[in-house]
Amino acid sequence: MQCLYLALFSVFVYYAQAQSLVQDAKYNNKELRCLVCQKSIEELEAEIKKIDPESTVDVGGYRLDAEGNYNHKTVSMAKSEIHLSEMMETVCKKMDNYVRALWKSNGTLTLFTMLSPDGTMNGDFDSVDLIQDMDLNESLKYYCEGIVEEYEEILIKLYQQEAEDVKTRFCFTETGVCPASADYVTRREEL
Ligand SMILES: *[C@@H]1O[C@H](CO)[C@@H](O)[C@H](O)[C@H]1NC(C)=O
Ligand SMILES: *[C@@H]1O[C@H](CO)[C@@H](O)[C@H](O)[C@H]1NC(C)=O
Repeated sequence: MQCLYLALFSVFVYYAQAQSLVQDAKYNNKELRCLVCQKSIEELEAEIKKIDPESTVDVGGYRLDAEGNYNHKTVSMAKSEIHLSEMMETVCKKMDNYVRALWKSNGTLTLFTMLSPDGTMNGDFDSVDLIQDMDLNESLKYYCEGIVEEYEEILIKLYQQEAEDVKTRFCFTETGVCPASADYVTRREEL
């Protein structure tokens, strides 16, 4: 009898863990914004990878240079301001595929999606507790759009300069969307 209870209890615990939805998770909005920033750049990098490196767009039209020759100026699509802007719009829409979640291991906030930016299934499903979201105004898409609206020029500049590690440069160094120290990280209370 005890054995049976134990077995049933284990099954219950297993399901409770695998499917738990956290309803009243408290987290810092700054932390969320930082996570959205990083995920957005990951998604943007995945979009940029899809661009044919040979493709260019015309900027500045045709001009006469000092020698009197027509100077036709083009830039690669990955550096085009208009194209980057359009890609950011797409990326922000993709943020709605993400849900807030907490790592089971340490209770810190993360953003979870079934499909990673590279198109593979996310293997972390069993490692997170999804957070049930009540407030639709707090949509991750709006966080993303807010960041783009405020800092788009910086982002475009980084791509035009072919900066290394745009994610860190953009989210941490250049905009301060992500605080330099990690003490803003909120943990789940009951751990
Ligand atoms: C929490 O755990 C996840 C996955 O195990 C890890 O990626 C993350 O860095 C950890 N966060 C902290 C603040 O320890
Ligand atoms: C969402 O935002 C709209 C407009 O800003 C506001 O009217 C509405 O009350 C908000 N809803 C919630 C649940 O905060």
